[in-house]
Parts: sequence; C-alpha cells; structure tokens
Amino acid sequence: MYTSKFIFFSLIFLLLLTFLAPSISSELDLTDENGDDVDGLEELIALDEQEDSQHHEKPSEAEFVSKAQRIVLELNNDNTKRAIDGNEYVLVLGYAPWCVRSAELMPKFAEAATALKELGSSLLMAKIDAERYPKVASTLEIKGFPTLLLFVNGTSQPYTGGFSAEELVIWARKKTGVPIIRISSDAEASHFLKKHSMFVVSLFEKFAGPDYDEFTKAAKMDNEIQFVETSNAEIAKHLFPNIKPTNLFLGLVKSEPEKYTEYEGTFSTDEILQFLDDNKFPLVTVLTELNAARVYSSTNKLQVLIISEPDDFKKLVEPLQDVARKFKSGIMFIFVDIREDNLAKPFLTMFGLEESEDSVVISFNYSSSLKYLLESDTTPTSLEGFCSGLLSGTVSPYYKSQPIPDNKNMSILTVVGKTFDELILNSPENILLEIHTQWCISCETTSKQMEKLAKHFKGLDNLIFARIDASLNEHPKLQVDDYPTLLFYSADDKTKPIQFPTKSSVKELAALVNKNLKAQDREIRDEL
Ligand SMILES: *[C@@H]1O[C@H](CO)[C@@H](O)[C@H](O)[C@H]1NC(C)=O
Ligand SMILES: *[C@@H]1O[C@H](CO)[C@@H](O)[C@H](O)[C@H]1NC(C)=O
Ligand SMILES: *[C@@H]1O[C@H](CO)[C@@H](O)[C@H](O)[C@H]1NC(C)=O
Repeated sequence: MYTSKFIFFSLIFLLLLTFLAPSISSELDLTDENGDDVDGLEELIALDEQEDSQHHEKPSEAEFVSKAQRIVLELNNDNTKRAIDGNEYVLVLGYAPWCVRSAELMPKFAEAATALKELGSSLLMAKIDAERYPKVASTLEIKGFPTLLLFVNGTSQPYTGGFSAEELVIWARKKTGVPIIRISSDAEASHFLKKHSMFVVSLFEKFAGPDYDEFTKAAKMDNEIQFVETSNAEIAKHLFPNIKPTNLFLGLVKSEPEKYTEYEGTFSTDEILQFLDDNKFPLVTVLTELNAARVYSSTNKLQVLIISEPDDFKKLVEPLQDVARKFKSGIMFIFVDIREDNLAKPFLTMFGLEESEDSVVISFNYSSSLKYLLESDTTPTSLEGFCSGLLSGTVSPYYKSQPIPDNKNMSILTVVGKTFDELILNSPENILLEIHTQWCISCETTSKQMEKLAKHFKGLDNLIFARIDASLNEHPKLQVDDYPTLLFYSADDKTKPIQFPTKSSVKELAALVNKNLKAQDREIRDEL
C-alpha cells in the first residue's frame, strides 16, 4: 500500500541500509584471509598492567585514547575462540577500517572499556577488523558495520543500547549482572551526580520484597537508563530534591528543564518500563544519527517534527518547551536540523517539500499511518493550535500534491493529488488512469501505449485518459504499490477500479477498454 507507513518503513530501511551498505560492498573484496598471528590475550593483559607507569606527566588526550584502545582486545584468527569461550561476558565490536560509523564508534567503545575497567566489570571488551579476518567475523555472525554483540558464556545477543560511551557502560552493566547502583552516603550521591545526568532514583526501606523484585527486573530489562537505589531518605532527597516524605519512592531525573518526574504507579515491571518510555525523552528531542533508530522505534505517541535552521529553532525553543510540557503525554517533539540532508530530506520528501527553506512542522500518527502538516507559519501559537487539533482529530491528514496543471487540449489529462477527487472520483466519465513514478523504469513503455490508446479512442466523449505521478501525489483512495499501474474507472462505479495488466500490447489494452465500455452499455440497457 502506498501509505505513509510504507514510506516510513522504507525510510527506516534506508537508514539501516546506510549502516549496512558498506558491508555489502565489502563482501566483494573479502577474498583472502591474510590474518597473521598477532598478540594474544596474555600480551594484552600484560599491556594493561603496564598501564602508564612510564608517563609521569598528565597524559594527553591522544595518549588517553590510545591507552583506552589497548584495553580493548583485538580479536584475530588465533585468539577469538579462546576469548569468547574463556570469558563469561564478551562485548564484541565488529568493524571495517574504512567504515565511517565504525570510526565514530571506536573511541566511544574504548572510553566505555576504560570506564568499565575502573568499575571492576568482568566484561571483556573486544573488537574485530572484519575485513582483515572475514572468516572469524562470519563465525561470530558479524554481518554489517559496526556490529555490537554481547557473548554470554559463548552465546551471542544483539546490542540494544545507545551509542555514547555512557550508554555503552550502562547497557553493559545491566546485562552483566550490575543493573543498579546502590548509594549509601551523601558523598557517593555527590560523586554520582557529577557523572550522571539521567537516571532512575528509588528509595526502599529494604532491598527485598515483591516491589523491589519488580524494580530490579525493570532495571535489567531497560536498555539505556541508569537505575539507582538507596534506603536513606536524605540521600534520596539529595538525588531528587522535591521528594515527599515517604519510604517507597521512584522517580526519573533528566538534564533538561523538566528535570524531575515522580512515578505514581504501582511497582510492576511493565508499568515502570512504560513510565520510562513515556518520560525518558527530553521535552524536545534533537534528532541525530546516533539517536535516530531510538526515535524511529518510539512510535507509541504522535510525533511532531520541527524541521528548521538551528537559529530559527532557537527562537522557538522556549515557547515550544511550554507547548511540549502541555502535550507530553500524547506527543513527542523532535527537532531536525534542515541542513542535515540525511535526516531532514527523507521527511521533507514525504511531504513534497524538498526545496523548503523555511521551517516545516509535520506530524505522524504511526497507528493510523497518517501524516499531517502545519500549513500556516510556525509560531508558538500556531504550533499549539496544531497540537491540540491533532489530539482532538480536527487537523486533516496531509496528502502531497503537485500544483494543479493546465490540462487544456491535452489528450491525456495530468491528475494531481488535489484534483484526484474532481477529475477521477467525481467525474461522470469512464477513465483509464496510468499511475507512474519518477524512478520506475518500465513506466515509459506504458506511457507510450497510453499515447497510442488516446489517439485510437480520440473523439469518444465518454472516455478520458489520465495519468498521475504517484511519487509526487497522494490520495487516500489511491492505494497502489506497483508501478506502472493501469486502472479503469467505470463511469457508473468509481469505487472499484478495474486493474489492466500492464504487460499487454496496445491492441490487447484497446480490446479491454472496449470490453469494459460495452459491459457498461449492456448494464445501462438492462436497467432501461
Ligand atoms: C556462565 O557459566 C558459568 C559456569 O558454568 C555459570 O556459573 C554462570 O552462571 C554462567 N553465566 C550466566 C550469565 O549464565
Ligand atoms: C492515531 O491513530 C489511531 C488509529 O487510527 C487513532 O485511534 C488515534 O486516535 C490517532 N491519534 C491521534 C492523536 O490522532
Ligand atoms: C484547444 O482546442 C480548441 C478547440 O478544439 C481550439 O480552438 C484551440 O485553439 C486549442 N488551443 C490550443 C492552445 O491549442
């Protein structure tokens, strides 16, 4: 179906493809395996132990990074099996030297390795150059770049966390038996606050019982937020200042204007996770390549996207936060920098607004697959009106359309989204409609056949030939997923167009047109 949901999935697919594409091309030259015997585990550990005993000055950033890189074990033909089988937990990064995304992730991975080591984690962090060691990479089932896999006693599971160093650490600890940080002193709380800006804080009288079990389960199942527990009300107050006097509490802390959110539900794992899902994003999320996958998968609310220049957005951000606060239970607000083609273009294309230089405000309802456009100028007032309209169902869905063309003396009418009702559905004529797209290769043949048919039937006043470019025009009644498509709309029933086979010859098509016109004549005669 030619719906926004379809386009959205295509969009997500394209996004994933940009992750995977390099690996596809690489498979072509993964011909020989020239991996030689490099340093084994023991050597690496030896390196770790040396640490920077030779450095007396403060290490530079480059030194810090290279030291961190060394904490990450480099897998090769000889050490991989041993590393995977010999450790309870191994987090493997599969990369290719030329892959940009791998290069971006590598320092964060190394930074996370350093942090985890300092925290005494038993997790082994390892990386493998999948181009140099394709056989090993394939036994680990590394298919795209970068790939992150956690091996637990030799069995792998996909990585489901975020991609900053902090998020890597949080996820790794959750999945390796340390899902919660316990804080028992004010000093620890201060130290923790210096390092974390987003976390779940909890207060329990004792760390046991059904409520506590549900809380622990939620901490393990969540993929991105650090959970904290304390049994001291003063410490809880330090972490969550407006806490009411209580001996059972859970709240979410974030680094943004809406910093503190108290949990008011019962202690059940599902409800806690739902609460986090509803509240974990900032009032306005800035879309980046790092969080895109997370944002796209968070489809439980309406999404309103503001696509604009950062300067225009800055002017809007404060009033927008007030709007966002008001609608936060129903709408997720996302800012997209219009200059970032990778992020902004797919959205603008869905609305036919690729060339827009002004702010564009759009919305998606993932349950209904409908999309919406704020058609007036973007101001705090218009935005607020748009949002309440969305929630009350008074904003009409948006269907893209080219401008209305001049069809004077055309043997084949050009139909656009805006004229589909008038020219097709409400027209008293029989219509043969050709539906094509810009990118379809076989559409040209069908277009030529249409020209011939139009010439052949010229002068027949109850038959009209028309065409529509479905890449630039949409209509709720036009649900086609294959191009070209030929639809015959009979004058007496526009609700059930008849699909003509596009692989037919002109002659066969002409015969089909005649047959359908005659069938209609017969019906009219029968009625008389
Ligand atoms: C891994 O295997 C060891 C030894 O059999 C076992 O003690 C440990 O519980 C296992 N770890 C996990 C997370 O299943
Ligand atoms: C989104 O679509 C669903 C399914 O059609 C509908 O039930 C819901 O009311 C819509 N939400 C809004 C806010 O329009
Ligand atoms: C359009 O058709 C009409 C009648 O067939 C004719 O008089 C007129 O000149 C045509 N106009 C153009 C621009 O071809």
